[in-house]
Amino acid sequence: MTVSVILAIESSCDETSVAICNNGKITANVIANQTIHENYGGVIPELASRVHQQNIVPVIHQALTDAKVNKKDIDAVAFTRGPGLLGSLLVGVSFAKSFALALNLPLVSVNHMHAHILAHFIDDPKPEFPFLCLTVSGGHTQIVLVKDFFDMEIVGETLDDAAGEAFDKTAKILNLPYPGGPLIDRYAKEGNPNAFKFPEPQIQGLNYSFSGLKTSILYFIRAQEKENANFTLDHLNDICASVQFSIVNILLNKLKKAAAQYGIRNIAIAGGVSANSGLRSGLQTLADQLDWKVYIPAFEYCTDNAAMIAIAGYHKYLKGDFVGQDVAPLSRLEF
Ligand code: KG4
Ligand code: ZN
Repeated sequence: MTVSVILAIESSCDETSVAICNNGKITANVIANQTIHENYGGVIPELASRVHQQNIVPVIHQALTDAKVNKKDIDAVAFTRGPGLLGSLLVGVSFAKSFALALNLPLVSVNHMHAHILAHFIDDPKPEFPFLCLTVSGGHTQIVLVKDFFDMEIVGETLDDAAGEAFDKTAKILNLPYPGGPLIDRYAKEGNPNAFKFPEPQIQGLNYSFSGLKTSILYFIRAQEKENANFTLDHLNDICASVQFSIVNILLNKLKKAAAQYGIRNIAIAGGVSANSGLRSGLQTLADQLDWKVYIPAFEYCTDNAAMIAIAGYHKYLKGDFVGQDVAPLSRLEF
């Protein structure tokens, strides 16, 4: 078997991450989070690219140290080409190209959304093809039919907001800092999921919509605060539990429909929102009821990380699938 050491760079949004993959095993996965966006309710692209620029070299050094690898031992450089914020992607892509040029290494281009799914191939148990993957992040919500490593088909997706956006926009309404998903998850643990009811969108087929839910939460909070100015603070746990319950129900109902439609019982979740405890336990309950084999990623591989870019890069490297120095990032990379 060919010995391969892949260095992978992820910079599509607000995490600067570098991982090393040694013959398919992740030996380093360094992630520098950006706290600068906390008070803005979302990622500010201009600030994100500047912080990537500051973080990239220290993160590269840390990854090489963690993996006990010398630059000379690297066989290929993998990087996120898109989708994502253009200014953020440019930092990672430019760095990857310079690094590869300096060391005369091949370049491997990775689609960030493929990589979220392929994170399931980092550790055991690895899913068997074909499987369905619900990929839920801050920018995307997709049900993907995964036939092989790079043979994937989107069979359902959001028509407006992503599930992570629904969490983050609700958090903003509740005056919680960005990213709101993990905080809503934390408060929800102490609340009653049936305290408040929000309508489920009536969308045909396997597509999603979350913008109506966000609006109904906003109107509900405004109406309640007219009666009690402290409503949000007084009922924070119940509001978070009820919102989380609604989002998880919407996600799982379509996933159930997709599984029945395609006759597939190997089911995975991926992306930042797959860290949500309500989604993880809801999926497990469905698995028990419907005899599904489910794949739930380790927390460290749910939100953005370069380990998933490294494993995707490794499988492309094995196929000899390289790109030239003329490669450029794409904020909307084709699936
Ligand atoms: O995959 P990711 O790190 O970045 C994108 O590619 O967008 O996902 C980030 C999203 C954010 O919207 C964040 O609020 C959400 O994942 N998220 C969560 C949780 N952890 C992260 N949402 C709900 N519950 C969580 N525990
Ligand atoms: Zn992501």
